[in-house]
Amino acid sequence: MTILGATETLTGDRRADLRFPVDFWWGAATAAYQIEGAVTEGGRTPSIWDVFTATPGRIEDGGTGETATDHFHRYREDVALMAELGLAAYRFSVAWPRIRSAGGAGVNTAGLDFYDRLVDALLAAGITPVATLYHWDLPQELEQAGGWTNRDTAGHFADYASAVAGRLGDRVRLWNTLNEPWCSAFLGYGSGGHAPGRTSHRDALTATHHLLLAHGLATRALRAAATTGQVGIALNAGRVRPVSTAPADLDAARRIDGLLNRIFFDPLLRGAYPADIQADTAGITDWSFVRDGDLAVISTPIDALGINYYQPDLVGAAPAGQSDPGTPYPTAQDIVFHPTPGPVTDMGWSIDPTGLREVLLGIRRDYGDIPMYVTENGAAYVDRVTPDGRVPDPERIDYLHAHLAAVHEAMSAGVDLRGYFVWSLLDNFEWGYGYSKRFGLVHVDYATQARTLKDSAHWYREVIAAGGLETR
Ligand code: FCB
Repeated sequence: MTILGATETLTGDRRADLRFPVDFWWGAATAAYQIEGAVTEGGRTPSIWDVFTATPGRIEDGGTGETATDHFHRYREDVALMAELGLAAYRFSVAWPRIRSAGGAGVNTAGLDFYDRLVDALLAAGITPVATLYHWDLPQELEQAGGWTNRDTAGHFADYASAVAGRLGDRVRLWNTLNEPWCSAFLGYGSGGHAPGRTSHRDALTATHHLLLAHGLATRALRAAATTGQVGIALNAGRVRPVSTAPADLDAARRIDGLLNRIFFDPLLRGAYPADIQADTAGITDWSFVRDGDLAVISTPIDALGINYYQPDLVGAAPAGQSDPGTPYPTAQDIVFHPTPGPVTDMGWSIDPTGLREVLLGIRRDYGDIPMYVTENGAAYVDRVTPDGRVPDPERIDYLHAHLAAVHEAMSAGVDLRGYFVWSLLDNFEWGYGYSKRFGLVHVDYATQARTLKDSAHWYREVIAAGGLETR
């Protein structure tokens, strides 16, 4: 990795005060269920999200992934857009339900063919392929057998990882085994806000462990398949701040940090679950799902960490008598999430780039000098195409500018950060919010599937071309 230098030559001839290394991965990210559509084509079997979205009341606008942005058919057009932006890297996810054949007896080669073509199209456009193996779309057949509460799912995931690595392992440069396992476990099995929509804190903790086990087994499977790329995982690391220094508020912050961050980082990077969290949750589970040898598998060394960051959390103890029975966090019914002062995005998420800098520095301080990528960062706004064919989105430009500046600060302070992926390349299916939230650099008209570069896409192209940002 190139060291940041004061007078380093840039990749273009434009001015940029905040320079990034010449080999920095300027990227954008997507996920299969959110963009592909074509849910019954190419031998794909149903996923938990097909079932969840078909259940009335689960998705805000009743949207499903049936068509989404039709990327399955339009991937060449989308790769051309990426090339137009000058992206160095593209993070996509592979849909497990496209690869696992019905009944699970074998591999659906038609599914592998799709990603094979996508990866070749990326390489032909000079874009580095980054693949996520699990962005929440569990095959429904596996959910019927218990999903992530069934230990066998971890083994099936490793088999799937081997199959994908066997086909793409010579060309994918970075693998993320899982995307945000916190969401899979705590929203999928705890609060029920995500597929499969179960509501059991015990199941959420069991699923957490089996997801981590799946990560470790898949990491080993990817290496055994002689993949040439780096192997890592993408976590929604959060900066958890107490609302005051009162002991009860500090304890709320400790618990949320434990259940959001340390429950993943500690087993992955230290080979142990946090003792305080195991003690706190002893009334929910005895943790007997952790078997001898599991933590050695989970802590199999990785090459890089992926960090997804959107906003910090401000937490404190709930006033006496107040409780949140629907919280995704086990043992956190008596904790309140406070709004962070200041502006918010269309998701209602607070805009605070200092949180991103602190997350990156905190990981380095607590877990050492591990290479990192910001695998997701971005903002939803209400974007409209104007009569002259533009999509003005100045707030998104401000958001991305401020967060890239925070990334630059973290790098200047010594964080080994190698790339940044905007969430998202395209407007897409935003899970429980359906199509009501737009995160894309590229606007999608869902009636016509027309793509229009937003102003932020033009801005990002300039940043990439200049190799950095101008200070504001
Ligand atoms: C992340 C998800 C991604 C997208 C963004 C907004 O938690 O990984 O799929 O929904 O949030």
